[in-house]
Amino acid sequence: MIVITEKELTLLAGAGGLALYAGKQGPKCPFHRMLFAASNLVLLGGGVYVLWRSWSQSPPAFWCSLQTVRKKSRERLSGGKKARGEDAKHQDARVAAVLDLVRPNIWELEPYRCARDDYSEGILLDANENSFGSALPPEDRVLELERYPDPYQQPLKEKIAVFRNVRPEQIFVGVGSDEAIDLIMRVFCEPGRDQILVTPPTYGMYKVSAKTNDVGIVAVPLTPEFAVRVPEVLQAVAVSPRVKVIFLCSPGNPTAKLVPLEVVEQVLEGASGCMVVVDEAYVDFANANAVSACQLVEKYPNCLVLQTLSKAFGLAGIRCGMAIGHPAVIQVLNNVKAPYNVSQLTSHMAHKVFTAENLAVLQQNVSDILKEKTRVVEALQGLPAVKKIHPSDTNFILFEVPRAQEIYRDMAEAGVVARFRGHELHCKDCIRLTIGQAHENDSFLDLFKKTTEKYLGKYT
Ligand SMILES: Cc1ncc(COP(=O)(O)O)c(C=O)c1O
Repeated sequence: MIVITEKELTLLAGAGGLALYAGKQGPKCPFHRMLFAASNLVLLGGGVYVLWRSWSQSPPAFWCSLQTVRKKSRERLSGGKKARGEDAKHQDARVAAVLDLVRPNIWELEPYRCARDDYSEGILLDANENSFGSALPPEDRVLELERYPDPYQQPLKEKIAVFRNVRPEQIFVGVGSDEAIDLIMRVFCEPGRDQILVTPPTYGMYKVSAKTNDVGIVAVPLTPEFAVRVPEVLQAVAVSPRVKVIFLCSPGNPTAKLVPLEVVEQVLEGASGCMVVVDEAYVDFANANAVSACQLVEKYPNCLVLQTLSKAFGLAGIRCGMAIGHPAVIQVLNNVKAPYNVSQLTSHMAHKVFTAENLAVLQQNVSDILKEKTRVVEALQGLPAVKKIHPSDTNFILFEVPRAQEIYRDMAEAGVVARFRGHELHCKDCIRLTIGQAHENDSFLDLFKKTTEKYLGKYT
């Protein structure tokens, strides 16, 4: 922006006025000629000076941004004076490319800091909390809910890191993975300009978040068997440099199908100029150690893995999710998040689940759900109304039945609620059923049989 002071304006206006006056008197008089030349010189010099000063005091945003991005990338990459091998240099270049994807205004922001970043003990009169405590009964006061929660959640990250075999600095913790989806969009996509790429049918929040942030959507549909079309994805990215983030859902929702790690890697390699987000909300139902893209984050700085405590961990009510990726990218997400995004209640419960004893319960629950899934699938296979059951790597199944929408609605009104997904691509007449406890599944099967007979007859 051009900023001009009052003095500069007076000088420039004066010089302009003199130039006009001298110019009007005509070129014959040497005095007026000199006055004309001198006032023009002052006008020109003054103009250049004002432009130069405005630029140096407040350079245009694009210039600031470029400078800052370059500086930050260099700082992160310098890593001391030790000699670096070719592999390390190659990796540095990849990290630099990923950091260049971050929106320039994000680099410019000064992350929020609180006094407790420096002093967390003593008489705490720094955060306008209520030292008298909450109005809750005494037994509910043990968590000290009158205090703001830890903004960094380091101890929780350490537990997650051990469980996922990653490092704490590779973890962002948020209010469900939905928070991470939104943050990723805000960090990497310029509203009104950039795009994300999704592979429908897929999780609906990518689109909601993109729309909220005025980010465009490029869709490269899965095959009818729910496989990612890698060449088409890479082609879409090649022709549209505005695609900044690719969302792969693995296992998919509503597809229930894992994206093989080789496929994820092909996308990471082929689209190295994009962030590739692998949403693994359901990965714990599919042998996470073997199939999780967490094992790729070390090699690919453009890889971000989303996970959650909402599914296999059975903690949807506490809202706790994470993004796992390169520490520099995670740091950017941390800089942008609200300072106290993870509540004390959430943190307390999340901590509790990571004991050996409770993790054993988690494994048992997962195994029971998978057994129930097999039983429900077998029962559905025995019903003539069911035309197709998609293979499932999750705690839900997607199956096809004629007149699915009416059947779904009728059952919901009778008190058993599944989800109609027939409007999704390749999901015509499909119902998505979450596997519940045995008695819930029995109720579903019982009512489903009756309802399909009502709508479709006994031997459809
Ligand atoms: C694929 C997928 N990702 C993310 C989420 C959101 O998870 P969270 O509860 O952690 O926000 C869901 C929830 O249904 C989901 O299906």
